[in-house]
Amino acid sequence: MGVSFQYVHKAFDIVNGKPKYILKDVNLEIADGEFICVLGKSGCGKSTLLNLLAGYLKPDKGRICVNGKDVDGPSVERGVVFQQHALFPWYTVRQNIEFGLRIQKREDAAEVATRFIKMIGLEAYENAYPSELSGGMAQRVGIARALVNDPQVLLMDEPLGALDALTRDAMRKELIRIWQLSKKTIFFITHSVPEAVYLADRVVILKDGRVSLDERIDLPRPRDIRSVAFQDYVDLFSHQIADVAIEEAVIAE
Ligand SMILES: Nc1ncnc2c1ncn2[C@@H]1O[C@H](COP(=O)(O)OP(=O)(O)O)[C@@H](O)[C@H]1O
Ligand SMILES: [Mg+2]
Repeated sequence: MGVSFQYVHKAFDIVNGKPKYILKDVNLEIADGEFICVLGKSGCGKSTLLNLLAGYLKPDKGRICVNGKDVDGPSVERGVVFQQHALFPWYTVRQNIEFGLRIQKREDAAEVATRFIKMIGLEAYENAYPSELSGGMAQRVGIARALVNDPQVLLMDEPLGALDALTRDAMRKELIRIWQLSKKTIFFITHSVPEAVYLADRVVILKDGRVSLDERIDLPRPRDIRSVAFQDYVDLFSHQIADVAIEEAVIAE
């Protein structure tokens, strides 16, 4: 079960009568509850892969399955969190989180929202509007909004990329905590190598349209970014990707 990409191809353009594949023959199996980080250079097709899994795009060849069922369009089973949180500015934190539940006419909407407001630690802000929140708080609301629908997979496209370094660091820890509580499968895209090593059970590198490396991170959690073993993974992946800037990992324990 879990998520499976088989022989996935995707092109946007035809060049000299042939499709120019951004993704070609991507194969990937993700187990339930696994935290996968996808790394790769800008433009290598990371967002395209996420959009295929989200169901926003269709593969030209191959198939994508979630729990044995082919992905056929977007679904609440696959919750998406973007870099720029897409909160409704005219709704409070609570109303934003309840929104999806109300659409489904869930009678327990208020109760479920309360649980997630607690999980993201924003009890004191439940009646605040998005404009009154910091970037990190707004991103936590975005995550809660995806989680309330109880998705099987959480899809995150550089969700921390717009945050300042200290907030990003706090959010990484927060995300691990939420993941451990919610036990969701997480498909997480980043261009930060240390971020991937900090977060992932497995790191997948996309290169030339294919999975060029698929490596388990064999480090205990919470991870010590100062350890030699941590740095070894960072070096390994940075070399694989090449010319990707190695971000200084700012971590305050
Ligand atoms: N909707 C689209 N139409 C045409 N080209 C696209 C579209 N989406 C992405 N591309 C192209 O596909 C390549 C991969 O893009 P993307 O998946 O966004 O990369 P990444 O997220 O790794 O930076 C880029 O060359 C981009 O210009
Ligand atoms: Mg992208």
